[in-house]
Amino acid sequence: MSDNIKLSIEDMNLFYGNFHALHDINMHIPEKEITAFIGPSGCGKSTLLKSLNRMNDLVEGCKITGKVELDGEDIYSDMDVNILRKRVGMVFQKPNPFPMSIYDNVAYGPRTHGIRSKAKLDEIVEKSLRDAAIWDEVKDRLKKSALGMSGGQQQRLCIARALAVEPEVLLMDEPTSALDPISTSKIEELAMELKGKYTIVIVTHNMQQATRISDKTAFFLLGEVVEFSDTDTLFSMPKDKRTEDYITGRFG
Ligand SMILES: Nc1ncnc2c1ncn2[C@@H]1O[C@H](COP(=O)(O)OP(=O)(O)OP(=O)(O)O)[C@@H](O)[C@H]1O
Ligand SMILES: [Mg+2]
Repeated sequence: MSDNIKLSIEDMNLFYGNFHALHDINMHIPEKEITAFIGPSGCGKSTLLKSLNRMNDLVEGCKITGKVELDGEDIYSDMDVNILRKRVGMVFQKPNPFPMSIYDNVAYGPRTHGIRSKAKLDEIVEKSLRDAAIWDEVKDRLKKSALGMSGGQQQRLCIARALAVEPEVLLMDEPTSALDPISTSKIEELAMELKGKYTIVIVTHNMQQATRISDKTAFFLLGEVVEFSDTDTLFSMPKDKRTEDYITGRFG
C-alpha cells in the first residue's frame, strides 16, 4: 500500500442554486486503494463523486468553492475537462452501454482519442474486456449489440469501456445495486484486482460491501463527511456517535 494522495479535496462546498449540498469537505483519497462512500439517501455521496470528474459542470446553477486536486493539480482551474475525464473515469449505477456492438462500446473512447489502427484497437478491446473479467463471455460475439447482454455483463462492459482509455482513477456510483449476488461478487472481485493499478472510489449502500472491498470509508450525513478513516476502524471503533448509530442500524 502506498501513502500517496491521488485526490485531495480541500474546504470544498457545493451549491445547487440556493441549496447547500456539500459542506466544508476535506478529504485525501489515497492512490491505488479503494475508498467507499456510505451514508443515507440524499446525503451527497453521488454529488461528491461526480465533482471528482466535473460531471456537475453539466448541472445548471451548480457552484463549487474550495479545491479538488488530482496529483496536486486543481481540476477546476488548471485542467482541460476532456483530459480530466480521460484520467478519471466513471461507472454509473445503471449500466449504460451505448446502442452499438460490444467491440465498438470499448473502442469508442480510444477512437475519440485518435487511435485508428485496427490492430491497436483490437488489442485495447481485448485487454480492457479481460481486465473487466468479461472477455471469455463475449469474445465470440464482439460484433453483437451490447444491449443483448445481461445486466451484470453490461455493467462489466461499462467498466471495460471506462478502462479502455487507461484512466488513473475509477469512480463507481453504486455499480452493483441493480445486480444479483453472483454478478455483484464478480464486480467486487474485479474492484479488488483493479486496485493494484487504479485508484477506486465507490459509492455503496451496502455496508458489507464496503467492509469487504474498501481500504478507507467516508460516512456522509446531510452533506457533511462525518467521519473518514480506515474501513476497519470506521466499522469497529467509530469515533462519532452518528457513525455508530448508522452502522449499527440505529439510525433515524
Ligand atoms: N441536479 C441537482 N439539482 C438540485 N439538487 C440536487 C441535484 N442533484 C442532487 N441534488 C440534491 O443534493 C442532495 C444530495 O444528492 P445526492 O444525489 O448526492 O445524494 P446521494 O447521497 O447520492 O443519495 P442516494 O443514496 O439516494 O443516491 C439531495 O438533497 C439531492 O436532492
Ligand atoms: Mg447517489
